[in-house]
Amino acid sequence: MSEPIRFYYRGAVHEVSTASPTQTVLQHLREDLHCTGTKEGCAEGDCGACTVVVGSLVDGQVELKAVNSCIQFTPTLDGKALFTVEDLQQPDGALHPVQQALVECHGSQCGFCTPGFAMSLWGMYLKNDAQPCARKEVDDALSGNLCRCTGYRPIIDAAQRMTELPKVEFDRAAVAQQLEALKRDKLATYSVGERHFHAPRTLDELSALRASRPSALILAGSTDVGLWVTKQMRELNDIIYLGHVDALKTVTVDGGMLEIGAGVSLNDAYAALCQHYPDQLGEMWQRFASLPIRNAGTLGGNVANGSPIGDSMPWMIALGSEVVLRGPAGTRTLPLEALYLGYQKKDLRADEFVQAVRVPLPRADVQFRTYKLAKRFDQDISAVCAAFAFTLDGGVVREARIAFGGMAATPKRAALAEAALNGKPWSEANLALAMDALAQDYQPLSDMRASSEYRMKTAQNLLRRFWFETRLDAPLAANAVNAFSLRA
Ligand SMILES: Cc1cc2nc3c(=O)[nH]c(=O)nc-3n(C[C@H](O)[C@H](O)[C@H](O)COP(=O)(O)OP(=O)(O)OC[C@H]3O[C@@H](n4cnc5c(N)ncnc54)[C@H](O)[C@@H]3O)c2cc1C
Ligand code: FES
Ligand code: FES
Repeated sequence: MSEPIRFYYRGAVHEVSTASPTQTVLQHLREDLHCTGTKEGCAEGDCGACTVVVGSLVDGQVELKAVNSCIQFTPTLDGKALFTVEDLQQPDGALHPVQQALVECHGSQCGFCTPGFAMSLWGMYLKNDAQPCARKEVDDALSGNLCRCTGYRPIIDAAQRMTELPKVEFDRAAVAQQLEALKRDKLATYSVGERHFHAPRTLDELSALRASRPSALILAGSTDVGLWVTKQMRELNDIIYLGHVDALKTVTVDGGMLEIGAGVSLNDAYAALCQHYPDQLGEMWQRFASLPIRNAGTLGGNVANGSPIGDSMPWMIALGSEVVLRGPAGTRTLPLEALYLGYQKKDLRADEFVQAVRVPLPRADVQFRTYKLAKRFDQDISAVCAAFAFTLDGGVVREARIAFGGMAATPKRAALAEAALNGKPWSEANLALAMDALAQDYQPLSDMRASSEYRMKTAQNLLRRFWFETRLDAPLAANAVNAFSLRA
């Protein structure tokens, strides 16, 4: 039996029962609800014109996150609260401080991007309880919003100004109460004709569904899958959504590993990882896509998708991370690198799904770095992504683990470069041999992001940078090798 989609919107529970399961939230807002404040720019998660804030109930509290409505499907809103730019105006008609500040600081010119910026700023306003934030946090909150008119400065000024205006409260308790009433405790399927959207609540329900519908598509944060619909016009008729399986949202430490459930958002996953690897993963956290993409997307989805240019796999493989797969017979755990068999080919059976990833905790004898090479600081896909984790014994390399993205059809280790270093002193001469060996390990492609020659040259030079940072004699500090370390 089909269950309607119910979510909290503009002070009431809103029900949907006829929209296609792959209708986007943006289409629902504009075409069905005629709430046209939210704009469509790119329909692929890049520009932020469509930014909305979604509220979920987490341990009885409302958690609010900015996401891109253009790549989220309407049924993912079930049990949640949706806030758009239409919600900002106060009951007496006054502008919200976010809007007032944008006006005062001239943060809007043509205005097309403005609703999206307003919602990203509102998300930050609520998160920080209207207190001023550091510039880095403002940049981060706005990392998913593009503006072609203002040059950004007035918008950044507005982020400060909004905290100086009289505070506007947000009634979280009232929203929590509404969401409590919308909670479901077992599998709900939304169907329209022959198109189904299954939302299991427990691991057992998910396992059973996966086993009985091996050709259904698993949907996590929709930051890849959403684009299959909006850009490739693919028809997805049978979807299994992971977003309501709480058991996939846990982060635990077990046996020297940090275990991150496949339903944990990228932002929460990197936050947990950065508690252990603040210097090594802090920049990757900030440069992985944008905040709205990290709020929606999952680390499990990054790994399951296994894109050759994905950012998490190189460093996870270099560190020796594992992936936990679950099927009808139980779980099996693989070294992450063993998951990737070839371009878009994985050791993942049709009745299995990714349950979790396991990342080793830091060890004193392991030097580890990862580097992302892309044309923009944030919201850009890597041309090359490098990761190095070397176990050093005095000046000798006991085990070199090198992995790259953007250099082969899968995220891949550099077996020959590693062999050139294992058991050898970590010296400039051996570094040069390993750099040469990289040319045998990889034959990178030329594409719109970079030429083959550029990829090889920079891959070799990133290994050199790692040596500069980790050599025993006079290692260089981050600000000597990384221009971004000087950012405020
Ligand atoms: C604007 C934009 C910027 C981006 N920037 C980056 C970037 O900087 N770096 C980067 O690496 N990626 C980037 N991406 C890609 C994307 O955000 C990541 O790959 C993300 O981690 C995907 O996770 P998801 O939860 O959204 O997956 P989804 O889109 O829901 O799913 C992706 C694939 O994985 C499968 N899948 C998901 N979860 C599971 C599971 N638990 N078990 C089995 N299969 C599963 C799905 O069936 C699908 O095939 C970007 C995407 C966009 C739109
Ligand atoms: S329309 Fe560009 S991010 Fe959604
Ligand atoms: S004001 Fe025109 S795009 Fe931002």
